[in-house]
Amino acid sequence: MATELIVGLDVDTRDEALRAVKSCGVCRWFKIGSQLFTRCGPDIVREVRGMGKEVFLDLKFHDIPNTVAKAARAAADLGVSLFTIHAAGGRKMIEATRAAVEGTSARILAVTVLTSLSDAMLRDEVGLPETAAETVFRYAKLATDSGAHGIVCSSHEIAVVREAVGPVPIIVTPGIRPVWAPADDQSRIMTPAEAARSGSNFIVVVRPILKHADPAQAVNLILEELAPCHP
Ligand code: C5P
Repeated sequence: MATELIVGLDVDTRDEALRAVKSCGVCRWFKIGSQLFTRCGPDIVREVRGMGKEVFLDLKFHDIPNTVAKAARAAADLGVSLFTIHAAGGRKMIEATRAAVEGTSARILAVTVLTSLSDAMLRDEVGLPETAAETVFRYAKLATDSGAHGIVCSSHEIAVVREAVGPVPIIVTPGIRPVWAPADDQSRIMTPAEAARSGSNFIVVVRPILKHADPAQAVNLILEELAPCHP
């Protein structure tokens, strides 16, 4: 499968979001996260869908199985193609989520360990004895064994995740920086081409596109970089 670009709509208003979708018109995929969703509600999902785009709803559901299953079904009914849950919610939560979206076209992505957590934070604050890489491996396997269709991870974790989940599940990677863009606050970055060659199925890019003087040109540069990486 060719690596696809997802543009993250990390903005505060409906106008900014819709302007970004229009200016990135050649891109098919847009991510709506908690910032925009909390500002604008489900209508923003409907509007972006109404512009013929695929939506990745990144709200990282993590609750008791019944609640996550009901939220997942609501996301599927909104017409999202991808949405996130936390693998840390456990097998029953993931199985209930899968049952709730069966028969729809929504696919479940599990978040393993947030890339903002270090090994020391996991041990001393969260109380997990393993390293982040070990936890990523265990959570990725748990998630896909329990019915998740894919995993969100850092591009530097692709090899660990692929080993855990096998060839089929979708891998989605943020923390992507073309060589022409500043790193911002991302520390473990890869270029679009590197992430594609490492086996990422979707890359998520926000600031290099939305903060570019010409977002359409930024999208085109990234798509041109991905093109030769396609199998
Ligand atoms: O601007 P930038 O391309 O760094 O944005 C990356 C996007 O991916 C943001 O929406 C951020 O919340 C999300 N993300 C991330 N790292 C993770 C998970 C999600 O950067 N581990």
